[in-house]
Amino acid sequence: MFSRFSKTPASPRPGTPGAPTAAATAPGAAPRVTAAQVPQKPSAEALAADRDKKRKERLTELKVSIHRRLLEDLNLSALESATEQSLKQEIASLASEALDEMSVALNKEDRLALNQELYDEVMGLGPLEPLLKDETINDILVNGPKRIFVERAGKLELSDVTFRDERHLLRIIDKIVSAVGRRVDEQNPYCDARLQDGSRFNCMIPPIAVDGSLVSIRKFKKDKLKIQDLVNFGAFTEEMAAYLQAAVSCRLNIIVSGGTGSGKTTTLNALSSFIDNHERVLTIEDTAELQLQQIHVGRMESRPANVEGKGAVTQRDCLRNALRMRPDRIIVGETRGEEVIDMLQAMNTGHDGSMTTIHANNPRDAISRLENMVALAGIEMPLKAMRSQIASAVNLIVQASRLQDGTRRMTSITEITGMEGEVISMQEVFRFERLGIEPNGRIIGRFNATGIRSSYSDRFRQWGFDLPASIYEPIV
Ligand SMILES: Nc1ncnc2c1ncn2[C@@H]1O[C@H](COP(=O)(O)OP(=O)(O)OP(=O)(O)O)[C@@H](O)[C@H]1O
Ligand SMILES: [Mg+2]
Repeated sequence: MFSRFSKTPASPRPGTPGAPTAAATAPGAAPRVTAAQVPQKPSAEALAADRDKKRKERLTELKVSIHRRLLEDLNLSALESATEQSLKQEIASLASEALDEMSVALNKEDRLALNQELYDEVMGLGPLEPLLKDETINDILVNGPKRIFVERAGKLELSDVTFRDERHLLRIIDKIVSAVGRRVDEQNPYCDARLQDGSRFNCMIPPIAVDGSLVSIRKFKKDKLKIQDLVNFGAFTEEMAAYLQAAVSCRLNIIVSGGTGSGKTTTLNALSSFIDNHERVLTIEDTAELQLQQIHVGRMESRPANVEGKGAVTQRDCLRNALRMRPDRIIVGETRGEEVIDMLQAMNTGHDGSMTTIHANNPRDAISRLENMVALAGIEMPLKAMRSQIASAVNLIVQASRLQDGTRRMTSITEITGMEGEVISMQEVFRFERLGIEPNGRIIGRFNATGIRSSYSDRFRQWGFDLPASIYEPIV
């Protein structure tokens, strides 16, 4: 009957696990809460929510027992060559057969939901699948099997999706990491990976994760936010965009600084759109996220060591090699370690126009982070020498921030102007001014120029970017 995928024709089996409950046997009926069971008459809304919850629980129960049977009955090796359509049909038939045997009748909606969930379990990432498909979700954060948070429009919210138990969650984690040839176990309790759709994945399992496995997923967006989108979202103004265009086109070395999830990579990606199409750009990342639009782009991704501790290719290795590949510009997704030395050197020696991001809360901190990284890389040089290296390498720091209300803004554009004694001197050209907060928590503020004219104005003009003096004038 299901010859293409079935190992053996499914036979009726008595005592099937997950036998239906009394409520489940009534066709299409969801369990109801009766007035006698509740002390006060609940509102219609509460009743509906309760019905919905029970319906979901029942579907989960059914899913578990049918899934177990599917794994036994499906010929897993045939799955790989199957089309999505035929596999869905196959699963629907097996599920319907199992439901008949269990004498469970479901309405059409529940049946479709069950089939989809079964398909996601067999072929995809189970409960994570609908969240991965939901375009409005940016991040998925799993804190143990029962708490899955999602970030929508900058706000974290608890989703109503759950895993059955820790084993279920571990099975999905295992599926993800084994697909990229890695494994997590007591010896290696955490791992970075990339999902098939390009999303960034990190997990940590017990006992290091105390209350159940922790998973974080940064969803990959095919359509990255462009400069105009960011302006429309209020991340920065048209004037700031014009300034940034001049800065990138005139090959300033730029660092995008920001906290975690503040929009650093998004900003870097958007800035890269100003790079001229004839330039050769090499990108280096731990997890390839950048999507440059130029035709001449070489992408590199570092690789962690394998289980035996061998085969690691670090960002620094990639960067050193990149310098031999005749790049016009080098973009490092995030500078977080010893590659800082080569990055600064590249910026100082003819690869101007290079860009990277750094984890820091303000431009001053970004410089301190650079100093710390240089020191940690084991380079011994006097502080002043190190600072003057940094000052001559970096031209501009763009600060990305995620504000309390979830909005992401470019809170500062700061130029590095040189050294004063032992100190790196900087000047802020644009900033976000916070003016107050609305009762609903929304932050009131505006972007403003500081009144300081860019120290690169002459360079901008010489390169054909004659920015009007008015963009540097502050609103008072
Ligand atoms: N201005 C913005 N408006 C709305 N969403 C944004 C904005 N900037 C970034 N995002 C979204 O926020 C999420 C985080 O952005 P991004 O990956 O750029 O952050 P990040 O600082 O690089 O994070 P990490 O520190 O984890 O690398 C992404 O899903 C992105 O699409
Ligand atoms: Mg990033």
